[in-house]
Amino acid sequence: QEKQQFPDNLVTWYEDEKRELPWRENRDPYRVWVSEIMLQQTQVDTVIPYFERFMTLFPTMHIFAEAPEELILKAWEGLGYYSRVRNLQTAMKEVVELYDGIVPTDKETVLALKGVGPYTAGAILSIAYNQPEPAVDGNVYRVYSRLMEIEDDIAKAKTRKVFEKVVAETISQTNPGAFNQALMDLGATICTPKNPKCAACPVAQYCRSHASGTMLNFPVKTKK
Ligand code: ADE
Repeated sequence: QEKQQFPDNLVTWYEDEKRELPWRENRDPYRVWVSEIMLQQTQVDTVIPYFERFMTLFPTMHIFAEAPEELILKAWEGLGYYSRVRNLQTAMKEVVELYDGIVPTDKETVLALKGVGPYTAGAILSIAYNQPEPAVDGNVYRVYSRLMEIEDDIAKAKTRKVFEKVVAETISQTNPGAFNQALMDLGATICTPKNPKCAACPVAQYCRSHASGTMLNFPVKTKK
């Protein structure tokens, strides 16, 4: 009961304050997947027009899977990291051929797809299929390290597991997709690296570093 208050606050805040983004119009796993791949190395504002053009050119996974490589590369021109779109087509061809065009709902199967790592798998399963899976990215490292004063070094690969565990223990069971996207928006607009806007934070009352004023000490990251 007590514990549910935290995810409920976040989800309610998200419903009220979420950014209107084209990939949030529905939960089509194809659209969620494409958007998450675009957003991996590219800012939201840059991705928006690319995503809209992409959906006009390739409205379904079947159409994208069968598109000539020159056309998919042209659609990606300016986004960079072209292996992202090549891997995406490889993976989506596989989904069309092996799974009749249905993105799998099983985590291990999703993780086995080319270009899909733990973050992307968690994002797809939570946003498209409402599964309570963590989607740990830079925003989550920042938000949760501050909330719980987690001092693990986020430059270390094994630290991901630490964060996946605490997110799994606190994620909304009723609306995990909204919960994960709330963390993204919170990290982008409130729990920012500099000058976090704690006065506007829906979960400040649960935040250890807000209580002790240590926000700017988190996340802990060694220089490489
Ligand atoms: N960054 C990564 N995924 C995102 C999403 N679904 N919405 C907003 N920002 C994101």
